Formats: sequence, structure tokens, C-alpha cells
Amino acid sequence: MKVAPSVLSADFGNLQRDVEAICEAGCDFVHVDVMDGHFVPNLTIGPVVVSAIAKSATKPLDIHLMVENNTFFVDLFAPLKPEYISFHIEEEKHPHRLIQKIRSLGIKPAIVLNPHTPPEALEYLLRDLDMVLLMSVNPGFGGQSFIDSVVLKAKKLSAMRDKINPNCLIEVDGGVSDKNVHLLKEAGVDIVVAGSYVFNHTNKKEAIESLKI
Ligand code: DX5
Ligand code: ZN
Repeated sequence: MKVAPSVLSADFGNLQRDVEAICEAGCDFVHVDVMDGHFVPNLTIGPVVVSAIAKSATKPLDIHLMVENNTFFVDLFAPLKPEYISFHIEEEKHPHRLIQKIRSLGIKPAIVLNPHTPPEALEYLLRDLDMVLLMSVNPGFGGQSFIDSVVLKAKKLSAMRDKINPNCLIEVDGGVSDKNVHLLKEAGVDIVVAGSYVFNHTNKKEAIESLKI
């Protein structure tokens, strides 16, 4: 299992210290939650702060857009050269076009599904994706409880992925801890995002290692 700690749970007064700490503690990606106050009822960070994160990070960025105007935000963050940009299918009229645009910028495209969105929504998109991100909470906040229907969804998606595009990774985001990571592993998940679990732990290295199963 690969681990992408979410900096949403970092101490923003000590962002450089916290980003360096998770990278030194062995994370695989640095997960960045971008919220616009429209698609979700919360507002986070823009390119000024994300570029500071990128400077401190020694691991690739995984940018999760929770915004209304995806194309505008893709253009805003592309110069920071993240590994992934993921956007919500619920907020995109032309997901296939946006996948192509993200790829043309040299970034791996990913789509996010909210808890209610079935994996079948991706049937004709999966072949063009590098990753699918399944939300295991309603997007907007860290520290929420894990919605366990995501396990069955991950299993279904994993079967679709094996048929259509075996190279496409599956990531799960929200309420992930050492209590549920085993279920996710069994369901075929490749990457977990963990915010509060990693940042509230007294030892970040221990927390990250407990998810690398
Ligand atoms: C929620 C974000 C998550 C969140 C995860 O909208 O997408 O990345 O920060 O935090 P935890 O692990 O605390 O649920
Ligand atoms: Zn996220």
C-alpha cells in the first residue's frame, strides 16, 4: 500500500516543518486538498501556498481538486508539476476532455468519485485514467468517519480496472487508519490518503508504516 498524507491536517503555521516531516517519515505522495467554498463548504489553499508545499516536499504532489471550475484550477496548478491532478466527476461536464488536457500538460489525470457515485460512471473513462480516487467521506473536511460502503465499491472498481486498464491505480481518501487499511488492501486499493491519522499520531513514521501493508 502506498501512503499519501493529506496536508489539510498539518499545522499551517509550521507547514515547511510538517511537509518535510511526512516526506522524511517515508510517505509516497503529498496529498493537497484544494477547496473553493462552492463545490464543498470549505475553503483551503491556492497556488501561492501549494508552491511553498512543493518547495518543501521531496515526494511528488497529489492534488485533489474540490472545486466548481476544474479547468481554471488545472491551469493554475499545472506549473507546479504535480504527479497527479484529480477532479470530481460530479462537477465536470466534459470529463474526457479534461483528462486529455491534464495529460497534455505532462500530469497524470485522475477522477474522484463522491460516496454516492457508482464505479460504473467510469466505464468509458477508465482506459484513459492513471488513477481513480474513491471518497470514503463527504469531501470538505478532515477528521470525519470512514464510510464503509467504499470497500464494496473498491472491489467492483478493481474488477473493472483489471479488465479495462490494469495500470490504473485506486486511491481511497477519508477516515483511513490502521483499523480499515486491511479491508482496503483486500479490496484492491493501491494508495490511501490519511490526514488526521498521520498528523495526530505522536510518531508520523510509525503511523505511515502502519498503513504500508
Ligand atoms: C476531505 C479531503 C481529505 C481529508 C482526509 O475532503 O479530501 O483528503 O483531508 O482527512 P482524514 O484522513 O482526516 O479523513
Ligand atoms: Zn483529499
